[in-house]
This record gives sequence, structure tokens and C-alpha cells, in this order.
Amino acid sequence: MHQNIQFNQPDQNQHLELPWIQWIQSDGFRILADERFRELPVFGPLTHVWNTSPKCFISAGEDSKSIKSAERIWSWLDQENTDRGHVLLIVGGGTISDLGGFVASTFKRGIPFVLVPTTLVGMIDAAIGGKNGLNYSDYKNQIGTFQLPDLTYIDVNFISSLDALERTNGWMELVKHSLISDRTLWNEIQNVDIHLPGAIAPWVPRAAEIKKHIVAQDFLDESLRKSLNFGHTVAHALEWKAQQDDVQLSHGVAVGWGMLWSLAWSNSLLQRDSTDFELASRSIRMWLDTIPAHHQSHWLSALDPAELWPAMLKDKKNLDGAVLDVALTQIGEAIWNQPVTLNKFTSIWKQVFLSLETN
Ligand SMILES: NC(=O)c1ccc[n+]([C@@H]2O[C@H](COP(=O)([O-])OP(=O)(O)OC[C@H]3O[C@@H](n4cnc5c(N)ncnc54)[C@H](O)[C@@H]3O)[C@@H](O)[C@H]2O)c1
Repeated sequence: MHQNIQFNQPDQNQHLELPWIQWIQSDGFRILADERFRELPVFGPLTHVWNTSPKCFISAGEDSKSIKSAERIWSWLDQENTDRGHVLLIVGGGTISDLGGFVASTFKRGIPFVLVPTTLVGMIDAAIGGKNGLNYSDYKNQIGTFQLPDLTYIDVNFISSLDALERTNGWMELVKHSLISDRTLWNEIQNVDIHLPGAIAPWVPRAAEIKKHIVAQDFLDESLRKSLNFGHTVAHALEWKAQQDDVQLSHGVAVGWGMLWSLAWSNSLLQRDSTDFELASRSIRMWLDTIPAHHQSHWLSALDPAELWPAMLKDKKNLDGAVLDVALTQIGEAIWNQPVTLNKFTSIWKQVFLSLETN
């Protein structure tokens, strides 16, 4: 399953390359967009479609990944007399693309859709791989479909309006892609100052291709694709706990903390301390420390790891009640389905997070 991805760099003005664009009627597009694009600009080739198509705006965020939002959009598509000859153009970050992809892949058993990711997380992760989904019953992505978009159009111009937190969120996923499968990329990015204008855009196509390549080999998430969850089991547990404790914790930052745990755990599986992993942990800390979210280290260092365990047990990658996670054997090489016990989880947790504020 190869995903159709098109990139637009700042100096380019690439037209949407949709194979079937000729037979879409002039009223062929329906647009689902993040509420913020009532104000923020869209660019180049999107402008015409944007100005001439009906739009439904929805707020970004985890609360919008709900059946209620899906119903609202299905109902709007119905009012707009949408059928399988129309295309849903989905403009926004990962929450909007997860929701929009789910809506498009279920409305009338599936209508064509195009993803236009506007966050870094969206560009290199959420808009690639065909996983669409909603949150349900307090847990993330419990309901969803596997359906590739007809096109993912990645215009890096959208990065320019992202704030420091959103840049860091996406950067953590980009770092993860390099750590699990591309040592060369990791060597090139480990000192990038992501808060300098234009510093991120050059790395986007390579990172997006990493995910595309992994997904092409294992679309249904049965083996290699699991490696993309590096750092995510702990991240999802942290997000679940943060929600309970009313603490603001974004997904990418949670993945950053999760990777710190996973690197230390990888060391323990290798039964030696890898200098590479130590250096990777330091870089991740450096990026996390550039945003106010590093204040969450107070919350983290006070957490009892046993309180996270119920969420670890709930992870979709688990089998027969055992927590299975992804580790590294070296930078650029991941192994998955590695069992984690509560004892091991706790001892690594203490090693990484109890010393957090004194490091
Ligand atoms: N389907 C997948 O394979 C996959 C992979 C990774 C993450 N995800 C999902 O993606 C979601 C996180 O995505 P996200 O981080 O993009 O979140 P998001 O969609 O909530 O966007 C984050 C923030 O950025 C704002 N924003 C969007 N575009 C902007 C722009 N160009 N300029 C300024 N602000 C902008 C949004 O309004 C929001 O406030 C999570 O729900 C996660 O589960 C899915």
C-alpha cells in the first residue's frame, strides 16, 4: 500500500496532483478545517479550492475526536448533498485529520479524501499511514478505520505559524522516526535549534518518507509498524494520567518523556549503557527544556509509576494481558513486542524521572 504524498517547499507552488482531479465537478470539494483557519492563511494552489468550496470548521483538540463531532460532520456532508463523487479536503493538525479521515472513510461507506496537514505532527506522522480514529471511553483512538487518503499534500509553509510547543510536539515524532530507523538522519538533526525560522522544514520530506516506507511494509500494524510506537506506551499512559490530574500535557511532549523511559529501558535490555542512547536522551531533554512544558517535570517526578500501570495494560499493542513495548538495539534499529513487567517499569521510571529535577 503506497501512499500518495506531495510536498510543497517554501519556494515552490506545486499544484495538487490528484489523478482524478479532471472529473471532479467544480463543486467537487467539501472542506473540513481546524477552526483556526477562519483566521490563518492557506497557501498557493489550495487557495482556489478554499475560496470556492463549502466549509465546516471544527476546533482542534482531543475532545473533538468524538462520535459527537463525527455525527456533526456526517450531518453537514449530508446537508451539502455529498456523495462518493465528492472529495473531503481535510485541513488541520492530527486531531482534525484523525477525525476527518474517520468521517470520510465511513460516510456512504467511504468518500475520497485529501489530507492537508498543518502541524508538524500532522506532516510527518498523523497524515501518513491511513489510521483514522476517535477517542472513546477516556482512551485514545479506540474506534477507527484503516483507510489511506487519496492524497496527502504537505505544504511546509504551514510550519511558520506554529508556536514553540507545537514545533516541539512534531519534532519529538521526527526524532522518534530517526531513532527507530535512520541513524544518518539522527546524526544530522541531533543539534538542530528548532526555534530558528526555517530550521525544521528541510527535514520534513525525509521524516515523512520514513513513515511512508514503514507503513508500506506493514499497513495493518502487525510487525514493523509497531516500531513507530517507540516511546508511545509510556506517553499514552502519561496523557491518560495528566487528563485525570487536570495537567496540560501535549502528545509530542509526552512522547519525548516516553522516549527517555524507553531509551533507559533499551539499555537495560542490552545489559550495558549505550553512549549513543545517553546522548540521545540529552538531546531530547535539551529540546523539552526549551518550552514551558518542562515545568511538568514537577508533576512527573511526583508521580507514582504504579498509578500509570492500568493505562499501560490498556495499550492496544498488548497481547494476553502482557504489556508489550518497543525498544532500540541501536540508534536506527528497533525491536517490538518486548514484554515489560510492573517491576521493570517501576525501576526504570525511578532511574529516569526521580532524578529529573536535579539533572
Ligand atoms: N493517525 C496517526 O497515525 C497519528 C499519528 C500521530 C498522531 N496522531 C494524532 O494526532 C493528534 C495530535 O496532532 P496535533 O499535534 O497536530 O494536534 P492538533 O490537531 O490538536 O493541533 C495542535 C494545535 O495546533 C493548532 N494548529 C494547527 N495548524 C496550525 C498552524 N498551521 N499554525 C498554528 N497553529 C496550528 C491547532 O489549532 C491546535 O491548537 C493526536 O490526537 C494523535 O493521536 C495520529
